[in-house]
Amino acid sequence: MATELTPDFQQELVEAVDHRRNFAIISHPDAGKTTLTEKLLLYGGAIHQAGAVKARRAQRHATSDWMEMEQQRGISITSTVLQFEYDDYNINLLDTPGHQDFSEDTYRTLAAADNAVMLEDAAKGLEPQTRKLFEVCRMRGIPIFTFFNKLDRPGRDPFELMDEIEQELGLATYAVNWPIGMGDRFKGVFDRRSRKIHLFERTAHGTREAAATVIDLGDPRIEDLLEQDLYYQFKEELELLEEVATEFDLEQVHQGKLTPIFWGSAMTNFGVELFLESFLDYALKPSSRRSTAGEVEPTNPEFSGFVFKLQANMDPKHRDRIAFIRVCSGKFEKDMAVKHARTGKTVRLSHPQKLFGQGRGSLDEAYPGDVIGLNNPGVFAIGDTIYLGQKLEFEGIPSFSPELFAYLRNPNPSKFKQFQKGVNELREEGAVQIMYSTDEAKREPILAAVGQLQFEVVQFRLKNEYGVETLLDPLGFSVARWVGGGWDALNKVGRLFNTATVKDSWGRPVLLFKNNWNCAQVEGEHPALDLRQVAPVVS
Ligand code: G4P
Repeated sequence: MATELTPDFQQELVEAVDHRRNFAIISHPDAGKTTLTEKLLLYGGAIHQAGAVKARRAQRHATSDWMEMEQQRGISITSTVLQFEYDDYNINLLDTPGHQDFSEDTYRTLAAADNAVMLEDAAKGLEPQTRKLFEVCRMRGIPIFTFFNKLDRPGRDPFELMDEIEQELGLATYAVNWPIGMGDRFKGVFDRRSRKIHLFERTAHGTREAAATVIDLGDPRIEDLLEQDLYYQFKEELELLEEVATEFDLEQVHQGKLTPIFWGSAMTNFGVELFLESFLDYALKPSSRRSTAGEVEPTNPEFSGFVFKLQANMDPKHRDRIAFIRVCSGKFEKDMAVKHARTGKTVRLSHPQKLFGQGRGSLDEAYPGDVIGLNNPGVFAIGDTIYLGQKLEFEGIPSFSPELFAYLRNPNPSKFKQFQKGVNELREEGAVQIMYSTDEAKREPILAAVGQLQFEVVQFRLKNEYGVETLLDPLGFSVARWVGGGWDALNKVGRLFNTATVKDSWGRPVLLFKNNWNCAQVEGEHPALDLRQVAPVVS
């Protein structure tokens, strides 16, 4: 039965979408993502004391078993979703794992995000992990907001930092605010929107919301508040900025071509709230999504959503599997029965969970832009669409090029079944990509990962959850390319050198190379061969 679109319901949906914003933070480890997240939650009233996110992390370590690994290494492997409210907005912050070996997980999370915040350490500028994640955002064309962090420490010249983004990422910049001083002499930021200076006081390690003194640019007190040289330097920079700067163009921001720039210090709470306010004004609200039935508008009355991540054993007491679903249209209601596009079956969405970090509360309704967690008894796979009304499937989530490969062996034949089951489930969950040799005699799966730690997690979980000890046999490749046009296209080019051909989980050809040089050589010799870094999505 179709969902009825009464004027009241339409109004409800329009309002819900207008008041929702969803984003992910992309950064290199140590840039301050955890700290910034914590401060955002502090402003959102979701936590009352800084330190809670880290404390939560520590608590989780104490209760989780396979995540023992996280504890041993002091890293965060899993991504979660944090929901909070600020100023009439419902905000979904899609948190991503900090460790670079888990960037595959981050890629998928970015598929569910409408906006990205690129967090950089002002002393370091662009770092490798940020560049990689930026490329994923660019592919999706989502708006990117830049926050330069750690201004309470000596950093690089602000113009130079902006120039780096322009030159190296090809992304235009617009400084929404501007820092006054840096390091020990960091005095605050000038907000170009209101033309006011926010002078900040340091709080004890930023444990509460920082008190800010706001003064006009023309206020005579300014010369007393800032030391003279700092004041002149700031005035000069401002003049330069206004002379050379690009115009602010929100349309360009929404197309991911212009990044608004913000400055601050997450740890001491300088500039975080100012950033949040501008971000909420400029960020894209939940937008339409491409599907087999055309663009699906968020205000479409029929519910739809897709699975972007699966997570096993978040709660070790239940040995459960949670599917993270991004709501794309209509309204989600507890216990609703929806169609599962891949299998054609009807699925009842019971026990929905609101996700807050590791804690969970029950959830009765959700709107476009929200993320819900559902218990997943093997029903869902990454990329699955669920819907009501007209049949549709959202574009799948691409697999990204792995860089490490190894045969996974099960030395104990009596464990064959458990081994198969474990490998399958971990693949479905997206813990690792699985490939196979084209040689039928070689039946062992090839694990294909972005980082070494992914291998360790797979082995650890196979042992702990499926009771199978495994052996790894590394392969000396570091580059994978899918072949556009599949086997037909590959067979046409004849024999290739310095590469091995394997099959992915869908039987499609993938070429493996020792290094980029070999890959470029094959591309050069066979211009007709369409080699792709991202797997064509499976529909
Ligand atoms: P991540 O999640 O991006 O990996 O970074 P995280 O927030 O854990 O921050 C990494 C380190 O940088 C932490 O120091 C943190 O306190 C520090 N940091 C974050 N924001 C700022 C800032 O604005 N200014 C300064 N000066 N430092 C900042 P740590 O010593 O590793 O941890 P902790 O002892 O402070 O907890």
